[in-house]
Amino acid sequence: MTFAEMWAALLPVGRDDATGGYHRFAWTAPELECRAWFLDEAAGRGLEIERDANGNLFAWWLPADGTRTGAVLTGSHLDSVPGGGAFDGPLGVVSAFAALDKLRAENFTPTKPIGVAAFAEEEGARFGVACLGSRLLAGAITPERARTLRDGNGQTFAEVIAAHNLDPTRIGPDADLLNRVACYVELHVEQGRALQEPVGVASAIIPHGRWRLDFTGEGNHAGTTLLTDRRDPMLPFAHAVLAAREAAERHDSVATVGKVNVVPGGVNAIPSQVTAWLDSRGPDDDAVRATVADVHEAARRAAAEHRVAVELAEESYTEVVDFNKSLRDRLVTTLGGVPVLPTGAGHDAGILSALLPTAMLFVRNPTGVSHAPAEYAEPADCLAGVEALATVLKDLAGG
Ligand code: GLV
Ligand code: MN
Ligand code: MN
Repeated sequence: MTFAEMWAALLPVGRDDATGGYHRFAWTAPELECRAWFLDEAAGRGLEIERDANGNLFAWWLPADGTRTGAVLTGSHLDSVPGGGAFDGPLGVVSAFAALDKLRAENFTPTKPIGVAAFAEEEGARFGVACLGSRLLAGAITPERARTLRDGNGQTFAEVIAAHNLDPTRIGPDADLLNRVACYVELHVEQGRALQEPVGVASAIIPHGRWRLDFTGEGNHAGTTLLTDRRDPMLPFAHAVLAAREAAERHDSVATVGKVNVVPGGVNAIPSQVTAWLDSRGPDDDAVRATVADVHEAARRAAAEHRVAVELAEESYTEVVDFNKSLRDRLVTTLGGVPVLPTGAGHDAGILSALLPTAMLFVRNPTGVSHAPAEYAEPADCLAGVEALATVLKDLAGG
């Protein structure tokens, strides 16, 4: 299968034809189809398949002498955000298989294992915590907490994975697997407008996190309840959304409220509960923390004014990731000098960077749009990405 054939095979999976957006949430039918595709591609290439206890998939090309250590891992993820683009995640996985094919066509023989990874629940779209598969693998979330995470239907992570032949009691850090990996290089579509050339290398991921705001008021009739009698949680919620924008401007950060749940959600009912999720990112921890503190304060003030209770809970936080400098420099040199740029997006490579050298290759995105259907990379740039990844893998896994 060529890059174009693999891409075409994945393209319809989980796509909403009305919007062009993808809905590939962990362990739902479209994502399972993507997993099956991954296993077929791996088997078709004679790669050794490894399923870890956390739902992550690996396909290994072992050297002729069967060496299993010192591996060079590449890949990305196959799940999506709600209504996401085609490239965020799958580009890294498809490019990894295509790069392997290229190396084999050149009769390259690796002296170290090369692995292709598909990490589970990278977007956190189903269970709320981004990079859940790599976090579990790396010990960046406790198994106890992961087991109790719930999806929108109230099903726990433990229940869902148990239904897919994983043992929830076995999830967590996997030193045996990680000790076999010398480095991880993730190829990803660029998610803004910063990259002007076909391929670049990542320098850093800015600090980012997710917070849940629960506003609890009193459900009541929209027509008969006097304004003065209302305890409407929608009002402090609205204040908090505007405060997030203002705080971001003040602290040179970004803040987004992209998901909200209203109970009971009737047109003619004052809600009893509004839950909103705040995503904030910034140049440093202080900027992000100050942004969230300001939103919390504004929410508290407005909630008191409207006799509503408010609680803020941190669901995940990732400090700044400075990618391993020597690996990053090695990629830049191997590729003959390419742009080096930071990103505001989170990645499994960021989580794993706490334990092993990681690096990222970015492929130009002419629209600059991501997490939305307009996310794009030109076919020629995708092939340049494959070429770059193959060059990097050859350097790291040869000799
Ligand atoms: C993942 O793409 C994120 O940055 O939220
Ligand atoms: Mn993403
Ligand atoms: Mn991604």
